[in-house]
Amino acid sequence: MQPLRNRRVVLGITGGIAAYKSAETARRLVGLGAEVQVVMTRGAQQFVTPLTLQALTGRAVRTDLLDADAEAAMGHIELARWAELVVVAPATAHFIGRLAGGLADDLLTTTCMATAAPIAVAPAMNQQMWKAPATRRNVGLLEHDGVRLWGPGEGEQACGDIGAGRMLEADDIAARVVALLQPGAALAGRHVVVTAGPTREPIDPVRYISNHSSGKQGFAIARAARDAGARVTLVAGPVELPTPVGVDRVDVVSAREMLAAARSAVKDADVLIAVAAVADYRPETVATQKLKKQPGADDCRSVELVANPDIVATLTAERPGLFSVAFAAETERLLEHARAKLERKGVAMIVANDVSDATIGFGSDANRVTILEADGEIPLPRDDKDAVARELIAHIAARLERRAVARTDNAAGS
Ligand code: PMT
Repeated sequence: MQPLRNRRVVLGITGGIAAYKSAETARRLVGLGAEVQVVMTRGAQQFVTPLTLQALTGRAVRTDLLDADAEAAMGHIELARWAELVVVAPATAHFIGRLAGGLADDLLTTTCMATAAPIAVAPAMNQQMWKAPATRRNVGLLEHDGVRLWGPGEGEQACGDIGAGRMLEADDIAARVVALLQPGAALAGRHVVVTAGPTREPIDPVRYISNHSSGKQGFAIARAARDAGARVTLVAGPVELPTPVGVDRVDVVSAREMLAAARSAVKDADVLIAVAAVADYRPETVATQKLKKQPGADDCRSVELVANPDIVATLTAERPGLFSVAFAAETERLLEHARAKLERKGVAMIVANDVSDATIGFGSDANRVTILEADGEIPLPRDDKDAVARELIAHIAARLERRAVARTDNAAGS
């Protein structure tokens, strides 16, 4: 499948160690059908040769603003008009500063300033540089100007530091390009099952144990998966939300009902995204009649609780090919607890959500999460739940793409 067939992408490469990854980014984009025009800064050419990129894209790499030959063929304004998308990967702190400051002093910044196409930058730099006040300011300006920020990820860096600043992998970038230019294609042909909302565990006919989940984040993810071309089954606990158009919804109440519905849905699914806030425990026995108050000052009762099945862990173990994503709602030591859940539940990815902050998490319209995988972390910026959902779906699509490529390579014996 070539979702980017005939789509025109300018790939800007700036001078950082992550420039070596740009060859793979170009290869992935070309493999998806895109026409890729590489523009390299002077610094980038110290890390990777234009010849490599030319061989991969089949187009002469552009490096100079005042290149008479290139200007005759496609001037920088024409290049800016030709582009349907400009992706700068890697984007160094220096480049980000120049773009934020409007310094049109080379071909790449000029192209960015002259284009009406969307611009995305994938930052790559040392974690301390990423945290530096000047970078914070410049990134803020770019976001304000509508430039998309893809990453950076967190983890071990080329310099040995650990922290935020690692450029996203080539398949992540490629999946984001697909999501942007061909929004209905990233998950085309996939079946995605999403669990959402709370569960209710009855104590008696009128009372139950539950939590504050509104279902907003799970429903947003179902919509984003649908918009990315997937067939979506939404297993929803009791929430007051309309069913997203085009999504199959199965309503449940308790954790055991949710397990049964999700188990049936994942039979032919590619992806399970467990966003539901499932009650970990349920009353051991459910009173058939409403429990009555006992007269007297020392009236107290205890309810014996038993553990509910862990839905995402159970289904991940039952269906080894399933790409499972869990959420972790935490009130303290967010990343530490989330990582422990990643391992315990056997999922490919966990999305850490700090629910101690009432403005993100339960019931809110906004969210701020960090994606954790075995080999790294990607903090997503605070945004509305739809935007968070789109980012997450783009990330999942990238992982599925990577898995498909690995399988093809294995089958070919490479
Ligand atoms: O619904 P909203 O109001 O929009 O709020 C969104 C949210 C805060 C509910 C959501 O972003 C979120 O964090 N969901 C996970 C809630 C949760 O219960 O987390 P947990 O850390 O207890 O569970 C970890 C994971 O295991 C979750 O993917 C959960 O769905 C799953 N789980 C938990 C218990 C269980 N018995 N079975 C499960 O599958």
